[in-house]
Amino acid sequence: MYDKGKIIPGLIIFFFLLTFPFWYSLGQASYESPKPKLPVNEKKCIEDVNWMRANHMELLNKWRDMVVRHDMTHYVNTAGKDYEISLEKTCMKCHTSRKEFCEKCHVKVSVSPYCWDCHVAPEEVRDGQ
Ligand code: HEC
Ligand code: HEC
Ligand code: HEC
Repeated sequence: MYDKGKIIPGLIIFFFLLTFPFWYSLGQASYESPKPKLPVNEKKCIEDVNWMRANHMELLNKWRDMVVRHDMTHYVNTAGKDYEISLEKTCMKCHTSRKEFCEKCHVKVSVSPYCWDCHVAPEEVRDGQ
C-alpha cells in the first residue's frame, strides 16, 4: 500500500536534515584556528603579521646565523626600524609567554621547537626555574 519510490528518498532527505547540524559543526571544529594571546600594549610585530605567521621560523634561523656566524646584533626590518636580535629579549619582550603564545599554535600543528632546551622562556624567569 505504499510507494517505495517516494518513501526511501524521503527518508534519506529527512535523515540528512536531521543530522545536518551535527556534521556541519564537525566540519567547523576542524577548521578552528588557534588563539595565541597577543600583546596588549603593542600593535605591530616586527614584520607584517601574515608574513610572521608563515615565516617566523626562518626569521629566527636567520637571526641566529646573524649573531652566531656574522657577529651582527641588530636587525633592520622592512620598514627601516632597528631591533636588537634576541629571541629572549626582543620576541619575548612583546610575546610575554611561551605557553600562551608560541605553544598555543605549536600544539595544534604538533611541532615542539627544541629552542627552549637552551633559551629561557619568560615564565621560567618568573618562576625562577
Ligand atoms: C614590538 C613588539 C613585538 C616584537 C618585538 C615581536 N612581536 Fe610578534 N607580534 C606582535 C604583535 C602586536 C602581533 C599581533 C599583530 C597583529 O595582529 O597585527 C604579533 C604577531 C606575531 C605572530 C602571529 C600571531 C598570530 O596571531 O597569528 C607571530 C608568529 C609572531 N608575532 C612571532 C614573533 C617572533 C618570533 C618575534 C621575534 C623574532 C616577534 N614576534 C617579535 C608584537 C611583537
Ligand atoms: C600563529 C601561530 C604560531 C605562533 C603564535 C608561533 N608559531 Fe612557531 N610555528 C607555527 C607553525 C604552524 C609552525 C610549523 C611550520 C611548519 O611545519 O612548516 C611553527 C614552527 C616554528 C619553528 C620551527 C620548528 C620546527 O620543528 O620546524 C620555530 C623555531 C618556531 N615556530 C618558533 C616560534 C616561537 C619562538 C614562537 C613564539 C615567540 C612561535 N613560534 C609562535 C605557528 C606559530
Ligand atoms: C644547544 C643550545 C641551543 C639550542 C637548542 C638553541 N639555541 Fe639559539 N643560541 C644558543 C647560543 C649559545 C646562542 C649564542 C648566544 C650569543 O652568542 O649571544 C644562541 C643564539 C640564538 C639567537 C641569536 C641571539 C639571541 O639571544 O636570541 C637566536 C635568534 C636563536 N639562538 C634562536 C634559536 C632558535 C629559534 C632555536 C630553536 C629552533 C634555538 N636557538 C635553539 C643556544 C641554543
